[in-house]
Order: sequence, then structure tokens, then C-alpha cells
Amino acid sequence: MSQHILFSGTSHHSFASELASYLGMPLGQVLFQPFPDGEIYVQIQENVRGRDVFVIQTVARDPNYYLMELLILIDALKRASAKSISTVIPYFGYSRQDRKDKPRVPITAKLVADLLVTAGATRVLTMDLHAGQIQGFFDIPVDNLYARPVLADAVLKLGVKDLVVMAPDLGAIKIARAYASHLKGEFAVIDKRRLSSEEVSVTAIIGNVEGRDVLLVDDMCSTGGTLVSAAEACKKAGAHRIFAAFTHGLLVGDAVTKLAESPIEKIIMSNTVPLPEMLQHPKVEVVSVARLFGEGVRCVISADSISSIFN
Ligand code: R5P
Repeated sequence: MSQHILFSGTSHHSFASELASYLGMPLGQVLFQPFPDGEIYVQIQENVRGRDVFVIQTVARDPNYYLMELLILIDALKRASAKSISTVIPYFGYSRQDRKDKPRVPITAKLVADLLVTAGATRVLTMDLHAGQIQGFFDIPVDNLYARPVLADAVLKLGVKDLVVMAPDLGAIKIARAYASHLKGEFAVIDKRRLSSEEVSVTAIIGNVEGRDVLLVDDMCSTGGTLVSAAEACKKAGAHRIFAAFTHGLLVGDAVTKLAESPIEKIIMSNTVPLPEMLQHPKVEVVSVARLFGEGVRCVISADSISSIFN
């Protein structure tokens, strides 16, 4: 019997299967059978006593349900005497509320960190956390992977020329700088004001985009408001071709339609969040980061350096 075993929640089957097949490990059996009133019930159908367990669950599309399901899975594994419980969370939901930026608001990223640890998680493997500092909300190891190598490769295939990598808001400066250096492009930034959770306005572009290809880069796209207003501002400022790349495609409501009707020519996103068939569009290309997570899990198992994956 192997010391390591993988389990998955129900949020993203295709990702979990891809990760399991990359690692050449089967997914452990779990019975999911909700109670008639909607409460979640799970039963782990494998012996995990003394074993090192990995649980895969992305917290998106129905974040409240999938977060609760993840906590319940971890609890079941802890009570079944798993030796360690590493949670593989491709998209760490609730991460945007990571500081008290207004009076009387929660810090949900810290709350979720506490919930995971209380449930029994001993490690978190995730990707492009909204803010790297969220790692400090945990007193267990957190490995924050980057989608950049695979997204940047897909961007290169678009034949971009004279590239400016644009941060569509100040929060995206760090990720956009990393892409600019990876793609050997210039770096620019947009000064964005958020008017509501669905509305943003661009006040200024800091940098020159005239006649140049622009790549808008962000950690996530939710309503599409940020990227659409950034793309329109770049077009107005004389950009040649405009592309967008982001890790987490939350793509709520009519986000895909808004992006498709915007000046953005092609959108490259990872598969940390499932893209339902009805949201697929020829302008949207999804690239898989399951291999990167597979390498992350492999490094945890063999105690190798995770940063070596990115060098
Ligand atoms: C904000 O801090 C994030 O990095 C994204 O820019 C934001 O969540 C995107 O949201 P939306 O697509 O709704 O503008």
C-alpha cells in the first residue's frame, strides 16, 4: 500500500483526474451523499490510517458549498487518522478580502485559513494567491505556485510583437512585472478606480502603448469589468493588438460576452476554475496547470524544492 493517497472534492473533476493521471496515482474513493435538507455527508472509502493524504478542491463557482465540502472532507480524513493532510486548492476562494480596507468588514482570507487548519489541514498547495502575504495567515506550510510558465507560453504562440505587459490595476503590478520579465516586454500600469463590485473606471495609463501589442495580466477575472475597461483605455491610447491572460477565470454573469465584445483579441486563462461548456468561446483559450500542481505534489512527496519547478 502506498504511503500517499489522493482524494478529490466535487468542485472540479476534470482537474483532479488530470492531476491524478499526471502523478500516476488513482483518486481514492469517497462517498458523497447529501442529507435531504442539503447538509453535506461524506465517507472516505479507503483506509488512510497513518498515510499522507492530498485533497484536491477548488473553491469557486459555488464557493460556499465547495469550501464546506472541503472542510468536511478534511475532518473525515483527520478522524480516520491520516498522518498528514495536504490540501490542493487551485483557486483559493475568499482570498480577495485579505485586509480591513473599510470599517466593519471581515478578513475572509484569514477566516478560511483558520477554518482549514482547525479542520485538520497540515499543508496548502495553491496558485497565484490574490496576495502573497496570505501565506502568513497560516502557521502551516503554504506553497503558492505560479501559472505564469504555461500562460506565458500560450501568449508567445500568439506571435506578439513589441509587447507591453499591462497591470490593469495597482494590485496586479507584481504579477504583470513578472510576466514582463518572463516575456521580455515592457511594463505599464493602469490606475483603476472600483466604483462597485461590478463597475470600474480607468483614470490613467502609466506607460506608452501606442502602436504596440498589449498583454493585460491579472490574477483573476470575475465580472470582466477590470479587463474590459483596461482594454478600452489601451485601444483609445492607440494600442495595436490587445490580449489578456489571467490565472483564475471566475467569469461570473455575462463576463465572457463582455470580454468577447471588448477590444481583446484573445483571452488566455488557466483551468484552476472549471469553465462550463456554455461559457466556452473561440476567443477564450484554457491552458492546463494540472502538470504544475502535479510537480508541486511530487516535490512535497519527495521533499524537493518547489521553486525548482519555476527556474
Ligand atoms: C482585484 O483585485 C483582482 O485582482 C481582479 O482585478 C478583480 O477581482 C477582477 O474583477 P472584475 O473582473 O470583476 O473586474
